[in-house]
Amino acid sequence: MRTQVAIVGGGPAGLLLSHLLHLQGIDSVVLERRSQEYVQQRVRAGVLEQGTVDLLREVGLGERMLAEGDVHGGVYLQFDDERQHIPFQELTGRAITVYGQQEVVRDLNERRRRDGGQVLFEVSDLSVHDVTTEHPFVRFTHDGVDHELRADFVAGCDGFHGVCREVIPAGVRTVYERVYPFGWLGILATVSPSSDELIYANHANGFALHSMRSATLSRFYLQCAPDEPIEAWPDERIWAELQTRLGTPGWTLREGPIIDKAVTAMRSFVAEPLRHGRLFLAGDSAHIVPPTGAKGLNLAVFDVDRLAGAIADFYRTGSTTGMDEYSAQCLRRVWRVQHFSWWMTSMTHHFGGPDQDFERRLQRSQFDYLRTSPAAATTLAENYVGLPTR
Ligand code: APR
Ligand code: PHB
Repeated sequence: MRTQVAIVGGGPAGLLLSHLLHLQGIDSVVLERRSQEYVQQRVRAGVLEQGTVDLLREVGLGERMLAEGDVHGGVYLQFDDERQHIPFQELTGRAITVYGQQEVVRDLNERRRRDGGQVLFEVSDLSVHDVTTEHPFVRFTHDGVDHELRADFVAGCDGFHGVCREVIPAGVRTVYERVYPFGWLGILATVSPSSDELIYANHANGFALHSMRSATLSRFYLQCAPDEPIEAWPDERIWAELQTRLGTPGWTLREGPIIDKAVTAMRSFVAEPLRHGRLFLAGDSAHIVPPTGAKGLNLAVFDVDRLAGAIADFYRTGSTTGMDEYSAQCLRRVWRVQHFSWWMTSMTHHFGGPDQDFERRLQRSQFDYLRTSPAAATTLAENYVGLPTR
């Protein structure tokens, strides 16, 4: 098999990269370990930055997103039972769109199928070779047949548990990581949202988030132990804790059937550099952020937008400038987003420890500063809606 760009991973990063390359007349093959159904049903995040929405619309992927996505002009922050609003639109002129990641993936798969894109699902035994030569290739098995896919470039879009990051030699790769002493219990419930916008709550019991997917589907998160067994959270306990942590005078949280619940650990992670020879990492394969800033998908979009442009420049003009600058350009944004995601997490979660009372007073002070200072609120707002991408 032969293509111009071999893309490992068929999540949002890999699929969007394939689409962006196609628009530039560049051929690619996407190699995905899981089935299409599995990738599309994975419940993931749901907040798109203004820049992500603008890009998806510009490249012909905006129809369902604009029809079904929910534009939000702000979020609520809550400390115990005090709630304040951060008005993004008013402070920055920009908004966010709530539209599930699996909907983005569904739109991408549909568009690749319509355009005759090559997306191979359920591949196995994948390995990447000769990335420091001009003829890298990827070995894999598909439908019981062993294949060798030769390409000019390889894009590692295979997420945190993929294989591409490790292709960069240990002596070349530097990893930065912070593991948090808690995780998130994610809950999907068929009940209409009780709030028009997201609510991030810091309660004495711990963090809670009220998000949503549609007018009839709510999405919640509860801070819990990182290795919490799901059995420890029967539906009754989930609703009781959500009522406690999100409760505020005069407000009612509607309850309904819980259709999905799962615990995910929380970490900040960056692997540098994002390029080694003709291998380029993009998305979760290179970086993970705590979901408190809702940045994972948006960072992946930023990476592949840069990578597609760099590869297109090479084929159009022979210039390698974009590829040579790719890693540094992405890392500048990655670290800004890492800091924001860490800051949002540190302000809203309980870290325990001997100084937890001191910590909670600091968090209270930040909450009050955000309420009284337009400069402080604007700092949160401009990072949450996404700093300009160009
Ligand atoms: N071979 C082929 N595919 C693989 C391999 C492999 N060895 N290892 C992993 N994959 C696939 C996974 O099955 C997954 O579908 O790579 C894909 C990576 O997708 P994501 O993990 O979604 O990562 P990314 O595309 O970078 O998107 C980042 O997804 O996980 C969320 O919070 C994250 O919102 C962010 C977004
Ligand atoms: C979600 O809707 O899944 C969501 C929203 C905001 C976050 C994290 C997750 O910070």
